[in-house]
Amino acid sequence: MRYRPHLLTRAAGLAALAVALALPAGSAWAQAKPAAQAKPAAAAAAAPAANPVYAQRFAQVCAACHGANGRSDMAGTPVLAGQHSFYAITQLYLFREGRRANEAMSAIAKTMKDDDLRGFSDYIATLPAVPAPAPASPPDAARMAKGEALAKEHRCVMCHGADLSGGQQVPRIGQQREDYLALTLHEYKSGKRPGYTRAMPEAVGPISAADLDTLAYYVARFPAEAPKPAAK
Ligand code: HEC
Ligand code: HEC
Repeated sequence: MRYRPHLLTRAAGLAALAVALALPAGSAWAQAKPAAQAKPAAAAAAAPAANPVYAQRFAQVCAACHGANGRSDMAGTPVLAGQHSFYAITQLYLFREGRRANEAMSAIAKTMKDDDLRGFSDYIATLPAVPAPAPASPPDAARMAKGEALAKEHRCVMCHGADLSGGQQVPRIGQQREDYLALTLHEYKSGKRPGYTRAMPEAVGPISAADLDTLAYYVARFPAEAPKPAAK
């Protein structure tokens, strides 16, 4: 009984997100769908053209850590290029509400109104995916094979898609920074990052710490869809 008000507040917060951001409150949020089945029309409808105000604010505030083109070269800082609007807005919301903990991001998100959450997320969704810089040494074939097997065994591809590009509320993970991937996978396992739903804690629960590192290694080097050289 003591916890009931807290739970209600939390549920009200989630309902508020769905209403304020006009997100479907049903299955798409309660349960991650295979990325391949995500409806592009729905994503397009939710992502209007980027507001130039947020392009400018991104360049002034966010680029210092996340990179001007959205590919961060700062340790522990995720690449945002190629990320989906639905996913980005969810994470900004979680940072703002104190349900995803990171000093820098929480401080930034606390100043955001709902319009800002949407404006930044829509802007992020306009940044085309940027391939990872060429690695210093070629990927270790055995480790890549092990990572691929783990990604199949633990159904990462079921939700994140065969090309790991995600969709809607499921993030693009292919060619994300390895240090960030490892950090965040361990945080899902330890409970430090609860996630918007239980999807990730449940996915990584049975996976050993060593295998999480192998998955991060593999996902960071995953051969994404061939990037257009001109897009650089
Ligand atoms: C001081 C550095 C810094 C600045 C400035 C910054 N971020 Fe971040 N951001 C981070 C870090 C570090 C994380 C990862 C936090 C974690 O590990 O949970 C992050 C995470 C995120 C995420 C979640 C990405 C994911 O893959 O889960 C989003 C979205 C985001 N930032 C957007 C923004 C926006 C928009 C701005 C500007 C308004 C911004 N950030 C400014 C450091 C920064
Ligand atoms: C049932 C669907 C599902 C499965 C299976 C799944 N994921 Fe996820 N994944 C998600 C969703 C949804 C999110 C966003 C969760 C949140 O709000 O934190 C996510 C988030 C992530 C993130 C955070 C990305 C970022 O930018 O912060 C990583 C990394 C990740 N997943 C990797 C994996 C790996 C590796 C596997 C396999 C071991 C896996 N996922 C299995 C649905 C899934």
